[in-house]
Amino acid sequence: MPTKYLRWDQTLFRDEDVFDIDYIPGQLNFRDTQTRDLAFQLMPGLRGGRPLNTICRGLPGTGKTTSVRKLFAEIEGIGRALVPVYVNCQVDATKFAVFARIYQKLSGQTPPASGTSFATLLDAVARLMQERQCTVVVCLDDANYLLYRNELNDLLYILLRTHEIHEGTRIAVIAIVSDMTVDIGQEVDPRVLSVFQPTTVYFPPYTAEEVHEILRERALQGFYPGALSGEMLSLVVDRTMESGDLRVGIDLLKRAGVNAERSARPAIERQDVEAAYEVAQYAHLDNTVRTLKKEERRLLRLIAGMEQADTGVSMSEAYDAARASARIGYSTFYKSVKKFDEMRLVDVNFLHGRGRTRMITLRYEAERVREVCGG
Ligand SMILES: Nc1ncnc2c1ncn2[C@@H]1O[C@H](COP(=O)(O)OP(=O)(O)OP(=O)(O)O)[C@@H](O)[C@H]1O
Ligand SMILES: [Mg+2]
Repeated sequence: MPTKYLRWDQTLFRDEDVFDIDYIPGQLNFRDTQTRDLAFQLMPGLRGGRPLNTICRGLPGTGKTTSVRKLFAEIEGIGRALVPVYVNCQVDATKFAVFARIYQKLSGQTPPASGTSFATLLDAVARLMQERQCTVVVCLDDANYLLYRNELNDLLYILLRTHEIHEGTRIAVIAIVSDMTVDIGQEVDPRVLSVFQPTTVYFPPYTAEEVHEILRERALQGFYPGALSGEMLSLVVDRTMESGDLRVGIDLLKRAGVNAERSARPAIERQDVEAAYEVAQYAHLDNTVRTLKKEERRLLRLIAGMEQADTGVSMSEAYDAARASARIGYSTFYKSVKKFDEMRLVDVNFLHGRGRTRMITLRYEAERVREVCGG
C-alpha cells in the first residue's frame, strides 16, 4: 500500500485490518522449526504419496492455526496433487460436517444437503479424489471439540482408512489441539492409532522478547509512524505477558489506537493502553471461558464463589466443595485446575508459611468470573 501523505482525517491507522482476528501476517517469526517440521510431514503428499499425520500442540495464541494456514496457502500455489482442507472443528464438529468440507473443496460446489446420507457423501468424496488423482490433507483445527462430542475416533478411522474401501484415495490428517489436558494419542482407539501414528509438533509459548518483536512488527504495519512509542509498546508487551495470550496484545494495540483517536491524540498514551486493557482483558476472559467444557465452567464458577479476597481458596477446600456438589474425582478436579492455570484463568501457588497448602487464586475479579461462567 503506498504511503499516504495527505490524510483527510486524523487517523493513527495506516491499515486497521492487520489487527483483525483472522488476519494472516505476511511474516511468521519464531515459528521456523514448527513450519519446517510440518512441511516435512506433508512433503510425501507433494510427490504423490501419502503425507505423514501430525498433531500440533500448544497453548492458545502460539501460532498453530496461523502456521498451518500459511503452509496450506503455499501448497495451494504449488499445484493440484495435494489438496489442503481446513476445518474449524468448533463449527464443524461431526464426521458429516468434516466430509462436507472436503466435498466442498474438491467439487467447488456447496456442501450436500443435510438429508444426504453419510455413505453417499463418502462415496462422492472418494469418487472426486479418484477422478482428480489427488491426495487430501485435512487440518482438524481445535480437534478437541470432536473429542468432547465423541466424534474423533470414528472420524479418524474413516479418514485414514478410506483407501481400504476406495482404492486410490489418500487422506492425511493434521490435528490441532490447544487443550493441554488432552492427549489425542491417549484418547484414540488402538484400531485408529495403528493407522494414525502421528508425529507431534509442539508450539511453545512466546517469550516476552518474541512477543515484543511480533507486536512491534504488527504496529509498524498497522499504525502511522509515531503513533506508538517504544515505551507504550513495552507497556502493551507487559500486559500481553500478564494475560498469557498474544491475541490480547494485538487486540490491545487496536483498542489503544481507537482510544487515542477518539481523544484526538496524535499518539497512543498510557491511559489509552490502560483503558484498552480493561476491555481486552475481559474480552479474553470471555473467549477463554467459552472454550471450556460445561463441567469445567461449573467448577470455575464454584471456585470463584469460594474465593476470599487476596488469599484465594485452598486446593483441598475447593476439591471438597467440588466433590460435594458435582461428584467429581480428584484426578478430574486436578486436571481441570491445572488447565485453568495454563489458560491463565487462575494461579496455583503454595501458601507462604502454611506448609504444603496449595492455593488457587483467580486472575480476574471473582464476580466477573462467576458472571461469565453463567448460572
Ligand atoms: N509468530 C507470529 N508472528 C506474528 N503473528 C503471530 C505469530 N504467532 C501468532 N500470531 C498472531 O497471534 C494470533 C493467534 O495466533 P493463532 O491463531 O495462530 O494461535 P493458535 O495457536 O491457533 O491459538 P488457539 O489455540 O487459541 O487457536 C493471530 O492473530 C496471529 O496472527
Ligand atoms: Mg487456533
